[in-house]
Formats: sequence, C-alpha cells, structure tokens
Amino acid sequence: MSDKIRIFDTTLRDGEQSPGATMSQDEKVRLAKQLERLGVDIIEAGFPAASPGDFESVRAIAGAVSKCSVAGLARSVPADIERCWEAIKDAEKPRIHVFLATSPLHMQYKLCKEPAQVLQMAKDAVTLARSLCDDVEFSAEDASRSERPFLATVVEAAIEAGATTINIPDTVGYAQPEEFGDLISWLIANVPNSGKAVFSVHCHNDLGLATANTLAALRAGARQAEVTLSGIGERAGNCALEEVVMALNVRQPFFELETGIETEQLYPSCRLLSRIIGMPIPPYKAIVGRNAFAHESGIHQAGMLKNRQTYEIMTPQSIGRSGTDIVLGKHSGRTALTAKLKELGFNLNDEQTATVFEAVKRLADKKKKIFDEDVEALVLEEIFRIPDKYALRTLSVLAGNTGVPPTAAVVMEVDGEEKKLSGFGMGPVDAVFHTISEIVGQKPRLLEYLVSAVTGGTDAQGEVTVRMELAGKNAVGRGSDGDIIVASAKAYLNALNRLAKKEEKREWAVL
Ligand code: KIV
Ligand code: ZN
Repeated sequence: MSDKIRIFDTTLRDGEQSPGATMSQDEKVRLAKQLERLGVDIIEAGFPAASPGDFESVRAIAGAVSKCSVAGLARSVPADIERCWEAIKDAEKPRIHVFLATSPLHMQYKLCKEPAQVLQMAKDAVTLARSLCDDVEFSAEDASRSERPFLATVVEAAIEAGATTINIPDTVGYAQPEEFGDLISWLIANVPNSGKAVFSVHCHNDLGLATANTLAALRAGARQAEVTLSGIGERAGNCALEEVVMALNVRQPFFELETGIETEQLYPSCRLLSRIIGMPIPPYKAIVGRNAFAHESGIHQAGMLKNRQTYEIMTPQSIGRSGTDIVLGKHSGRTALTAKLKELGFNLNDEQTATVFEAVKRLADKKKKIFDEDVEALVLEEIFRIPDKYALRTLSVLAGNTGVPPTAAVVMEVDGEEKKLSGFGMGPVDAVFHTISEIVGQKPRLLEYLVSAVTGGTDAQGEVTVRMELAGKNAVGRGSDGDIIVASAKAYLNALNRLAKKEEKREWAVL
C-alpha cells in the first residue's frame, strides 16, 4: 500500500458552510490559489447546484488552478451531477464528488427511501458521473452510523459503477478513534473490490476527535484525508488540515506516511483564511494559534533557552512563521516588507507592494512600530477592499458625560452618491450605527461587536469586528483605524457591503 496521503481540502465547500464564513467569488479564487501553493492534492471548490453564485465560483476556481484536482459536490441526482460537471469540466483535473446517506436514520427521515432504493441511487449516480468524468468520488454520508453490511454493499456497488475514491464520512463527529480505524480496515478487508479505489475519510469535530479519527483511519489504510484550514466547517467544524499534516510530519517514524504539503505555507494559508472570513485564529489553536510557540512559565523559558526541543516539538519556521517578531518601522525597507507580506500569505505584485509600502510609511509617521496585524489591515484596506455599495467619507462624533446625548454626523456614499445625516444613540457607537442604518434604510441586528487593539501601545490601531443579521442572512465586517469609533463605522459598513453582495442563500433541499 502506498505511503502517500492525498490531502483533499474542503475549506471552500464544507468550510464555507461554517456559520458566518461565506466568501465572495474573488476571495474563493484567492484562497484556491493559496491552497495550490500549499500543495493540496484536491480542492473541493463548492457545490455547483446549490446556487448560481456557487456554480460561478466553482467554475472560476476550475479555471484558476492547474496543479491540483478541482472537485465539485453533487447530491446523487442527475440534475446536480450534470450541473457539477458543467462547472468543473474545464479544470485541468476535474473530479465529481457525489454523496448519498447510508445510515438508517438518514435513509428513513431525510431521504424517505428504502435501503434498496438508496443502493440503486448510488449505482445510478456514480454511473452517470463516470460517464462524464474519469475521476469520481462517492461519499456514504453518515457512514460511521451506518450498518456495516449495508455500507459495504453500497461501497462495492459504487466501485463497481466506477468510483475511483470512496469517502467514509463521520458526518456528525460521533466516531471514536479505535472504532473508526476499525471501520476502515474492516471495509478494506470485506469489500471485494476495495483495491480498485482510494479510501478517504471526512471527519467532523463534534466531540473534538476529528484529527484523532482521521489519523486512526490513515493508519488503518485510508489514503485520502478530507480537511479544512483551521478546521472550519459545519457546526464544530472539520478535521484541521494543519493538524493532520503536522502530526504525520512530526511523528513520521510512527506513521510512515507522507503528504505533498509545503508545511511552510500552513501559517500563511490559515492567516489568509482568517482574514477573508473575518474570524481571528484562536490564540490557543494547535499549530497556527498565536500562543502555539509562546512560552510563558519561567521553567519553560529556562528549558527553551538551553535547548528549544525541551518544549517545542516543531519549529515555528517549519509552518511558515518567522519565529522572531519582525517589526516594521519608519526605517524599514521594501525588502523587509516583501518578506513580511510573504510570511503573512500575501502574494502581491510589484505595483501592489509599492502601494502597501507607501501606506506603511504613512502609518509609520504616526506610530513607531508596525506589527503584522497593522500590515494585514493595510493590505486589506489598500488592495483587497472589494468595490463597495456603501463607503464612509467623514464621521464626527460628540460623546462624553456632559448630559448631551451622544451624537454622530455621518457623510457617506451609497452607490457613489453622497448622503449625510446626524443622529443620536445610547453611546457613540450606537449613535454611529443608528445613523448609518437610517441612511441606508436597513435595520440589521447586531449579533456581536468586538473591539481590540491590533497591537500593544496606546497608539495602536483599533480593530472592530461586527457580526450582523439581516433578513436571515449573516455577515461579518471588520474595520481598523487609529480611532475606534471610525473603525466601528468601517466594520459596520463592511458587514453591510457583504450583506449586499451575499449570494442567494444556498438550499440544501432534502432529497
Ligand atoms: O459531512 C459529510 O458527510 C459531508 C459529505 C457531503 C461528504 O460533508
Ligand atoms: Zn462534512
């Protein structure tokens, strides 16, 4: 059996199903190109039948990457499969990924089908997909709660019909590592034609076991891992790509398995995702969290000074972190900025780098040290700010404890036209949000409001993250500025712009 593990990244499909993680087409293409640099084998680009927006994004990704396979997801129905093929057919290496639930619970309550009907649907779906595409993956949804003999029958039929990859998902994160590993070795041993397909696993993290289950399955003979950057995904998320890859890497003699991942691209990739979806990486996150290489206690620090291996099982450099905090300032040159941009996962051309360089210089006039987060905020503002429906021109706020109600005077653009209004609120932020909401004629519900200093020091930039809901749609917005009230207004408008651009809500119609 080969010792090469294929990394199937589903950040753009299952990951995007994470609440609040919706990405625009441009953002998806940008992330897909980074996944290619990271060295994943397959990118699951989306679910083309879910919405016209999904279809277009999958098609754009299919045209944008060439080294990795591009997979589209489809339910086991002809319309989905044909739509999926339309979206991916121009990819260098297209793959159709069909799925169908095989557990008693899903068959009875979701599909309302008898097992014999499900078996026939699986055969028909794979046969149709294979008539269109040479690379077909079949997923037995909720496999870990399926009855083994029936699961084996469906898997055998799918391989017989032409599936080249068989995916065994732990859809609800229910499995335990020993049990899940055993399921994989049992299937490989008991499905007569198992040697004709690659076995894959797709583990959710509801019990915090997604990585453990995935690794157990790989030891048991699975040769594809379905993962997402930072583990984002439905509910508690999916198995985190960086965790599986670094476990295989750090414990190579134990697993004796290899991936084609450029591990130095792990941190830049997770950083890029975090910026795109507007959700910070938790500081304690394994491998890529801010604290993953920080040593607080004196005993640990003493050990580290004598020999880093006392408390570090991998180097920050091995996952693409510099290891030292390179801080840019007034006197930093373009070379230092270029190196920093690379580390942060930005691949900018010369013109874009020059624009950011000028912005860094302007900021350096106002503040002594420019940290990573400052650079990220500047790149987002200067380069990746998508053309917006709403834009802030000027803002002034009156607040304090004088008894005068907090007042905001907002001048902004709506589709290029200037609008002005003043309004009151309970506090300065409330006054700003209330006034903007009056101008745009919408009353979104504010679900979350977070303000943080991007870096240390009283001259730090303030970064505001808001999560809002409007007509059943959610969006995250971020804004940064030296003034936190201005940053709040920018974040609010950013979320409104995202809501305005939101593609049709995907419909996971029940079969
Ligand atoms: O979790 C799951 O079962 C899935 C399938 C569509 C592969 O995401
Ligand atoms: Zn899933």
